[in-house]
Amino acid sequence: MQIDTLILGAGAAGMMCAAHCEGRTLVIDHARAPGEKIRISGGGRCNFTNLYTAPENFLSANPHFCKSALGRYTQWDFIALVDAHGIAWHEKTLGQLFCDSSAKDIVAMLRSEMARAGADLWLHTSLQSLRHDGHAFHAVLKTQGARRNVTARNVVLATGGKSIPKMGATGLAYDIARQFGLAVTATRAGLVPFTFPDGRFADLAGVALPVRARVGAASFDEAMLFTHRGLSGPAMLQISSYWHEGEAIFVDLDPSGTLLDTLRRQRAQSGRHNLTTELARHLPARLVAALPTQTGLTLGGNLADQSDVALSQLCDTLSNWQLTPGGTEGYRTAEVTLGGIDTSGVSSKTMEAQTQPGLYVIGEALDVTGWLGGYNFQWAWASGAAAGRAISEKTRQV
Ligand code: FDA
Repeated sequence: MQIDTLILGAGAAGMMCAAHCEGRTLVIDHARAPGEKIRISGGGRCNFTNLYTAPENFLSANPHFCKSALGRYTQWDFIALVDAHGIAWHEKTLGQLFCDSSAKDIVAMLRSEMARAGADLWLHTSLQSLRHDGHAFHAVLKTQGARRNVTARNVVLATGGKSIPKMGATGLAYDIARQFGLAVTATRAGLVPFTFPDGRFADLAGVALPVRARVGAASFDEAMLFTHRGLSGPAMLQISSYWHEGEAIFVDLDPSGTLLDTLRRQRAQSGRHNLTTELARHLPARLVAALPTQTGLTLGGNLADQSDVALSQLCDTLSNWQLTPGGTEGYRTAEVTLGGIDTSGVSSKTMEAQTQPGLYVIGEALDVTGWLGGYNFQWAWASGAAAGRAISEKTRQV
């Protein structure tokens, strides 16, 4: 079978690319349905983009790489597409846009855009081998138990990263990239909960509060959640992408920075109030009760018993809680994979490999990783559209 473009992976980026590809396109995926991560994302409502998407929201060895694609297919382009399909949405927080009804609406939208572009989709299909003979790619596919030979002028790597192997994630894109001369940077789990093997937070499991979480120069003001295994919640997921094994993280339990003034005021007005009771007005009571064991703080007496120095020390400790995680939950639960196919070998405009004309790389397989909050899907849409448009231009010229 002879086609123009073979897209490996019917996830967010692969489907978006197919929707923009002119010519004869075949998308393959070993899963039983396309866009499985879209379907489960955002608690089933898919946080499909972020109003404030900008290159600064992405991690990569080359922070400039994402600029071109993000600038040419923006969050507003995707919102216009969602609107054109009549999918209702809302902003939840921090510019994060979610479907009102179901993430399945986004998958259905992409399927219909792919069909409109004339792309075929083969599920339960895997790649057995891929080579280039100097003119075209020759792929051997295994589909529904049968072998099929496919010749294609373009091949798009859209099989994503290593996160959540249970959902079908594999390192296929990295293997093919290496085969065709592209470098692959070290990968690790990102947007992932921290673990503390000593189980020190087990009694606090379920407690959540707003914090400022910091590691190195990165800092995020979002919610933190204690779990049986450690720390999770958006603040922890965000800084996990900046964290390296053995590093300490800093948690500010008073992100608004108002606690010291409040305690001083309360001391003046109601000095006989118990310090612990007063703290429990600002922090979850279960956390306040655990603070002595967790932080070494002594929390006895009434407010009137606390000197200025004692209150300052208390607030300092609460603002600079230093913790060294044992590790993370890894690819098993990570939302994304950091690192990946080195962008230095890929055109930021077309996503085409410099080492092999006709080979394109898009989505999470590349060394481009977004923050939590719809940024990763926006990267999948933008890089998919960039490759699809470049392939269409090339196809028109033939
Ligand atoms: P993606 O993983 O979507 O697709 C890859 C496809 O390739 C899959 O269909 C897979 O089956 C297929 N494949 C893999 N190996 C193959 C092989 N060897 N042969 C054939 N097919 C193969 N982001 C965001 O912006 N907002 C959100 O709300 C969320 N929520 C979220 C929740 C959870 C639980 C996870 C795990 C992730 C998110 N994300 C997210 C991240 C987002 O899902 C992710 O960044 C994109 O799906 C990446 O798109 P890709 O198309 O690159 O890979």
